[in-house]
Amino acid sequence: MIILGVETSCDETSVALLDDDRGLLAHLVHSQIAIHAPFGGVVPELASRDHIRKLLPLVRQALEQSSLRSSDIDGVAYTAGPGLIGALLVGATVATGLAAAWRRPAIPVHHMEAHLLAPLLETPRPGFPFLALLVSGGHTLLVAVGGVGDYRVLGQTLDDAAGEAFDKTAKMLGLPYPGGPQLARLAGTGRPDRFRFPRPMLNRAGLDFSFSGLKTAVVLEARQLAAARPLEESVRADLASSFQEAVVDILVARCLRALEQTSLTRLVVAGGVGANQRLRQRLRDELTARGREVYYPRHEFCTDNAAMVAVAGRRRFPSRDATRSYAITARARWDLEELAPA
Ligand code: KG4
Ligand code: ZN
Repeated sequence: MIILGVETSCDETSVALLDDDRGLLAHLVHSQIAIHAPFGGVVPELASRDHIRKLLPLVRQALEQSSLRSSDIDGVAYTAGPGLIGALLVGATVATGLAAAWRRPAIPVHHMEAHLLAPLLETPRPGFPFLALLVSGGHTLLVAVGGVGDYRVLGQTLDDAAGEAFDKTAKMLGLPYPGGPQLARLAGTGRPDRFRFPRPMLNRAGLDFSFSGLKTAVVLEARQLAAARPLEESVRADLASSFQEAVVDILVARCLRALEQTSLTRLVVAGGVGANQRLRQRLRDELTARGREVYYPRHEFCTDNAAMVAVAGRRRFPSRDATRSYAITARARWDLEELAPA
């Protein structure tokens, strides 16, 4: 079976062709960074308009690259939410239109489920059940995953998402959009122990997260330092590194506690912040020391991409007797726990 995956939930237009036997036949990602950079963040209307421009050409390119014809496609999976509603509507409309024209099922996919299932693109694949840490620009979740559609949210952020904290702190340190990866790069040259920033909630029971206090602490420290004299590059690097260390400490501590409480032995890390090298290294060290396993999708499957949408769509492929619907599904908000088991 070959699935066409379509992702347009935020600022990446992505298309993938996934074959059961041969794996990924094509995977194209067009980033809108250049469009949004002058504004310091994603402008929803500009995102929608660029998805419109790029999506069909990318589909065509993917088919050409893999020497497939539209008649080879068995189903079209698309991100139906959560995300920016206008951006989602572009992907949903195009994907549903193609599916209807090709007389194949259109498969709406939950964006976070797709992130959760991204590690299934890799070998070795994590077996179910596992604990998932979903850390992206919009979400920070710890989920007990029993199988596809069997999700129990154990903890989540009470304020900013981890990626959002990275992005806001980066902006405050004068780094260009998108800040997360830039901050991580700067942190690599700094000292993680120069500033001791708070680790909010860590001394509390439960598995929830909070990052806004940490972000504020960095802002206050930076302002105080800058009042004396302009921040040198090395000081900014130390601020970035100490901030990153605090985020990583929080995420690692929560993962360890969740593994202990659930007796799960495997951890899957997904979402854009999962690309963070320091987080990967610390989790690997801590879990290996405890005889537990950690799985990461490769970098391009961590950030938004259509390969993960195709994987999730494959797992959600409708049964032969299901009534086919070409209703366009797009939801800005959509709770992961609402999903039914596949
Ligand atoms: O999953 P994703 O591509 O988009 C969604 O939010 O759904 O995640 C993007 C987030 C952004 O906040 C970005 O700054 C962050 O992931 N990010 C990183 C790194 N790479 C991306 N944060 C920290 N370190 C990184 N290396
Ligand atoms: Zn995402």
